[in-house]
Amino acid sequence: MRKPFIAGNWKMNMSRAEAEEFAAKLKELYKDTEVKTAICAPFVHLERLAEAFKGTGIGVGAQNCHFEDSGAFTGEISVPMLEEIGIDYCIIGHSERREYNNETDETCNKKLKRLFASSILPILCVGETLEQRDAGREKEVVAAQVKADLDGLSAENVSKLTIAYEPIWAIGTGRTASPEQAEEMCKAIRDIIADMYDDGVACEVTIQYGGSMKPANATELMNMEDIDGGLIGGASLKAEDFIQIIDF
Ligand code: PGA
Repeated sequence: MRKPFIAGNWKMNMSRAEAEEFAAKLKELYKDTEVKTAICAPFVHLERLAEAFKGTGIGVGAQNCHFEDSGAFTGEISVPMLEEIGIDYCIIGHSERREYNNETDETCNKKLKRLFASSILPILCVGETLEQRDAGREKEVVAAQVKADLDGLSAENVSKLTIAYEPIWAIGTGRTASPEQAEEMCKAIRDIIADMYDDGVACEVTIQYGGSMKPANATELMNMEDIDGGLIGGASLKAEDFIQIIDF
């Protein structure tokens, strides 16, 4: 049985004081429910958040990593560095990194392989642009991403993977995919996993929806059969909003 998984993606937001205030508030509000949760924060906040959330059941995630362990990669952070400070998750292939930071399916694949050799679980983001959707190519685009990103990964690894379906036209725009549109794509992703692996792996992989998910629409999205959770941007910046999504 898949457990619901609600993860926050702070992106490049939150000062140190705001992060501390958020952590205190979330700890106060969070009841160890049947819902898994994590906050994916900027690197500078990770160590403190990991300490703040220790023993609470709230996980901490990074928003990127490098696939090499060390070396001449100025500005990068390696997986062993994240492991050392107790990080649980790492977002890979967010559309903003694909657009602005040259993230490709090839680098996503290398990063996923490196993460699966560690204790940190990846959250892989995929999704189509508005142009691709308007051309009716959303399934083809997402299938190509999933196939390239997971190339060479074992069934055992993919069973532990979280895939976030994030239509780019719904990210930060206030324009959420309808529950039916989101379900159709999450189911399509599960079918691709069944084709690439088998029904058992497809049943175990966690599939989140992301894109303007908020307290007002979380319940109807989470009620869809193939939507196992959410990757929450804007609505994860206030503990009161985020907790309402966890309590969908
Ligand atoms: P949003 O962002 O919830 O602000 O649309 C989601 C994401 O980019 O992960």
